[in-house]
Amino acid sequence: MEARTSISEITDQPILEVEGLSVVRSGKLIIHDVDFTVREGEFVGIVGPNGSGKTTLLLSILGILKEDSGKIRIHGCEPMCKSNDGRISWVSQAASNLPRDLRLTVRELVELGTLNRSNMFSFARDKQQVDEAIEMVGLGDVQHTDIGRLSGGQCQRAVIARALASKADFIILDEPLVGIDRESRASLLKLLDDLCHYANKTILMVSHDMAAIRQTAHRMIYLEETIKFDGETKLFPNLTQLAMLRGISHVHDESHGDHLHTDAESGEVL
Ligand SMILES: Nc1ncnc2c1ncn2[C@@H]1O[C@H](COP(=O)(O)OP(=O)(O)OP(=O)(O)O)[C@@H](O)[C@H]1O
Ligand SMILES: [Mg+2]
Repeated sequence: MEARTSISEITDQPILEVEGLSVVRSGKLIIHDVDFTVREGEFVGIVGPNGSGKTTLLLSILGILKEDSGKIRIHGCEPMCKSNDGRISWVSQAASNLPRDLRLTVRELVELGTLNRSNMFSFARDKQQVDEAIEMVGLGDVQHTDIGRLSGGQCQRAVIARALASKADFIILDEPLVGIDRESRASLLKLLDDLCHYANKTILMVSHDMAAIRQTAHRMIYLEETIKFDGETKLFPNLTQLAMLRGISHVHDESHGDHLHTDAESGEVL
């Protein structure tokens, strides 16, 4: 990685502050009274079952969904404020499902990352910024290949390179590991970890892949409408403790709590 000169520290500087956040969608309370802060240089993983409000939380943080109550501050101001322009990057849940027939090369996709509110009408590509982003994700060899011809893992890297090209210091990812083979998954996680440690990025990532997120995130948040756990990754509850947090009681007399359904490969708890 290009910027591997010094190890970035987690500082006390808050990048994201969420206070008393509640979000209602179609009349239904999806997120209730959520409080947390992400500090500069942290890699925070958010986990939780399907429909528990993870994407809703991220969309609220991005300012796409309006909060019902509470407040969100990124770099001290509202998510959509002008001074946050270009400082936040978003890799969506469907990012790697880009249409296969899209006639766009990897390089062109990454160049789009340099587009922002201020250069929208005089879009000049920043060559060095694009070169660096492509190199960081290791896609130099395929930069002139159409994205439709990439593997799932390469495609996800290209989308991350687009995020990096924007020079954003806060990267928000929603399920970036879905549809990616095990080997690419490991190298993608290494890339994200390196971005935190050597390129001074702050990362907030939602994933179902509990095993993967446990290996990389500094801190984990368990969200199920509200935050049920927020702490260092090594303190994340085991299955029995998690069942208790979720209010799930044993259904078999002989159960020791480890009989929750888990995905064998990922350790995902559903
Ligand atoms: N556009 C919408 N309008 C109303 N309700 C919605 C909308 N999108 C999602 N929901 C509801 O909000 C709840 C939370 O959805 P959300 O997508 O945030 O969950 P999630 O934790 O990201 O789930 P997954 O793990 O499946 O991605 C669900 O009950 C869902 O049905
Ligand atoms: Mg989601």
